[in-house]
Amino acid sequence: MSDFKTRIVVLISGSGTNLQALIDTIERGDIDAKICAVVSNVDNVAGIERAANHGIPAFVVNHKSFPNRESFDERMIEIIDSQGPDLVVLAGFMRILTPVFTDHYAGRILNIHPSLLPKYQGLNTHQRAIDAGDNEHGATIHFVTADLDGGPIIIQSKVSIEENETAASLAKKVQKQEHLIYPLVVKWFSDGRLQLIDDCCQLDGEALQKNGIQFDQSIHKLNY
Ligand code: GRF
Repeated sequence: MSDFKTRIVVLISGSGTNLQALIDTIERGDIDAKICAVVSNVDNVAGIERAANHGIPAFVVNHKSFPNRESFDERMIEIIDSQGPDLVVLAGFMRILTPVFTDHYAGRILNIHPSLLPKYQGLNTHQRAIDAGDNEHGATIHFVTADLDGGPIIIQSKVSIEENETAASLAKKVQKQEHLIYPLVVKWFSDGRLQLIDDCCQLDGEALQKNGIQFDQSIHKLNY
């Protein structure tokens, strides 16, 4: 293993399609990083199988075995830190984390959220966007802070909401975007281009706007 590779631990709770997108991009040689481990708070999910298929060790830490959020977070930290990560990636990890955890990884932990934050923090984002009559929706990647789905925004990718759109069809469109933007952001971080400084995201030393970079295909082409 090269010393220059960024060591990543990915946290999941489910199907792990974002994990898969990262694995594929790294295996193609497009990101100089190594996923050292996957940690799931739910057993028997597809994401664990995806890790196994690529020889990545997976750990299950069932939150139900802990008396409170802090003790769960402390155990998670022990396991994650045993891997010596430079970056922690939340990819469909469905637990609220306490400051015990978020402070520990400040500036080196990312999350993806299926909405154009600050709109629709929390759950059921696709249905909420449809019910509100929005004509656009999307995904956001942000640094994680103690503020749930409220950390500094790095990038957003938009999709349109068509007439007769369902939560399922919208989720599909949004996920397609997620699989483009998460590897891209991880690449920026791994290349040392992306940093969180004084609660502000910087890419190549320049502060990003409050709602981050607005993704389009040309950004993708520029970076690969
Ligand atoms: C994604 O839509 C992500 O935005 C949200 O949870 C979902 C995870 O999907 N946080 P997957 O497990 O990566 O397939």
